[in-house]
Amino acid sequence: MDSEKLKELFQQLTPEEKIAQTIQLNGSLVIENEVMTTGPMHDLGLPPNLKIHEIGSIYNVNDYQKLIQLQRETLEHSRLKIPMLFMSDVIYGFRTIFPIPLAQAGSYDFDLIEQAAEMTAKECYQNGLHVIFSPMLDLVRDPRWGRVMESPGEDVYTAKRFAQSVVTGYQGDLTHGLAENHVAACIKHFAGYGAPEAGREYNTVDMSNQRLFNEYLQPYQAAIEAQALLVMTAFNVLNGEPATGSRWLNREILRERFGFDGVLVSDHAAIKELVPHGFAKDEREAAQKGLEAGVDFDMMTSVYATHLPELIKQPELAALLDEAVWRILVLKNQLGLFENPYRGLRTQHTGEVLSDEAKELAVKLVEKSCVLLKNDGSLPLKKDQTVAVIGPYGESRLTLGFWASVSGKPQDTIPLKTGLLQHFAAENLIFARGYNLFDSYEQFGPLKAGIEQLNGPIEPEDQLLVEAVKAAEAAEVIVLTFGEQFMESGEGASKAHLQLPLKQIRLIQALKKTGKPLIGVLYTGRPLVLTQVEPLFDSLLLVWYPGTMGGIGIANLLSGQASPTAKLSMTFPRSEGQIPIYSAQLPTGRPLTDSEHSDRFLSKYRDESNEPLFAFGTGLSYGMFTGEWLESAVLSETIQLDYRIKNQAEVAGETVVQIYLLQRPASMVRPSRQLIASDLVLLAPQEDKEKRLSLPISVLGFYDNQGAKHLSNGTYRFLMRIDQKETLLAVTI
Ligand code: BGC
Repeated sequence: MDSEKLKELFQQLTPEEKIAQTIQLNGSLVIENEVMTTGPMHDLGLPPNLKIHEIGSIYNVNDYQKLIQLQRETLEHSRLKIPMLFMSDVIYGFRTIFPIPLAQAGSYDFDLIEQAAEMTAKECYQNGLHVIFSPMLDLVRDPRWGRVMESPGEDVYTAKRFAQSVVTGYQGDLTHGLAENHVAACIKHFAGYGAPEAGREYNTVDMSNQRLFNEYLQPYQAAIEAQALLVMTAFNVLNGEPATGSRWLNREILRERFGFDGVLVSDHAAIKELVPHGFAKDEREAAQKGLEAGVDFDMMTSVYATHLPELIKQPELAALLDEAVWRILVLKNQLGLFENPYRGLRTQHTGEVLSDEAKELAVKLVEKSCVLLKNDGSLPLKKDQTVAVIGPYGESRLTLGFWASVSGKPQDTIPLKTGLLQHFAAENLIFARGYNLFDSYEQFGPLKAGIEQLNGPIEPEDQLLVEAVKAAEAAEVIVLTFGEQFMESGEGASKAHLQLPLKQIRLIQALKKTGKPLIGVLYTGRPLVLTQVEPLFDSLLLVWYPGTMGGIGIANLLSGQASPTAKLSMTFPRSEGQIPIYSAQLPTGRPLTDSEHSDRFLSKYRDESNEPLFAFGTGLSYGMFTGEWLESAVLSETIQLDYRIKNQAEVAGETVVQIYLLQRPASMVRPSRQLIASDLVLLAPQEDKEKRLSLPISVLGFYDNQGAKHLSNGTYRFLMRIDQKETLLAVTI
């Protein structure tokens, strides 16, 4: 529809219809006995005269047949026939579930990440979704927070690249609106949600503006530069104001400074929560503050619906409502919904999921996301070895991670056993569960029976331990799968203790005593504290939550058919007391080395090392690569850094090169090291390649506490990190 026609439509809307457009409800609230109804909605306190078919959006209905029906009903009953927007929490896959974002980011294969996002968009499109609530771009440096699993990790550069790849993959080229097989990205949670004090969910965030501008805001800004069409607000207080009610954040920074003109969605009930935050005296004031901050959709509360009718009697608020509704209509138009309200549906391919192409992509991304943390040579496994595969993940399909439960199905998952059987003879594999993945299935409520059926009954732990040791004794090598279960991370899963549960430690110790090589395969949604058990493993492969095709990708790595390349996207601490611990820390005036002060008065702990167990960027491979700096040149807008990478091995291989900028004297203290570039290089046996990195000079700049950018001339030092080795280069600008 052209802009004039859209304006005409907008002008016909009554105030009630405008307000209804700003309401977004979960599908479970509007569907009863298969039709849309106002019944359950009333539990939310929505006004009885609200016309359900006029609301702007419904989310988390993932069944395309239901969506067809919802849209049909909407068009039948909506006075002006305004189509409904369908959104959903698709975070790292619709039905083909890819590895969690924390894993994907460590692949440094941003093309592959983009392809996976494109595949996700295609599955969503063909199943009738218009907008998905991802990528989540909250920078994270505290593994106590359960949502680190859906973030690209601790590093600014990595998160920015991830943001751009995922947004581009979802949305494609926007020149002619959103094309077929694409959906709109709703990036979240604006802003700073990833830094809650003490890692406690929904807790306060307080940080200097320089940190906000240099670090935490960067990934969101990168996504907006990549033209993300929607943004979701955050639950947290940021520097004294709830993010959802902050005019400064949502208008001055997001809209004016970053140039965002898309739709801003509140997080679930976040406008109403301005009251318990103590930022609004009642719900009416909360509604006013939400509107003033520029929040267009009120997700899952009645505050806009109840209070905007009164509030918009003030002309300046009526004008703000008009702006919000206009943005919502523009989005519906960008999606082509006025011409084709059944976008993506009713095509030949409707409902297509889990295609061979999608599965192949997922396998590749698993292979590229698993991080080899330690290897004494026991990996890859040898073809004719007898292997005891111990631990619940040998056969469990519950490896998708928390958010996949919205649209994914564990039944689709390929377990590790299936993958291993593609490489090893059945008689060489001995399986034992080792311990129960869940202590009880009670937490699953109505889903209990289904999960129990899928994962098997709970068995006595002592018996499982005895069986595990017996299996280990009968084998030449042990592969132990262990870690967290999927309910331990995700939203609402903060933890104060990050060590393994005792039953897992007991199992690891018992297996070590058999004297057989012990290979750990770690499933987790967050960095854990593994200091006690790490020395007991001969090799350790971190597989995060690998998704639908995890079993195939992991088996390919264990067997040596594929070689690990991924790097850690988030530091593993030695103990909880070190948190937050991350790579881009600022130097202190009393560093451990090169200080004139005596030992006691240095920046350190009395009872713990300053070093993490596994630092950001850690990641081994089966190959052997070296790198050296060649020439460098400074042009007017760019710095050119040339380097050579060599594959020392007799087999082809791929490696991730990371380039860091080291700290230098400046008017603000800068991180000791800051990742500024990465490169994924594929080399034939013994091959060496010359590479050129062209960096805009602006990457050397930084923001001060007022948000102004600074850049100075001088000597900059760069560090190339390849295969755990580091090489320095100094460049004068
Ligand atoms: C989460 C969001 C999510 C929303 C809708 C909230 O609780 O914070 O990330 O998109 O719910 O389900």
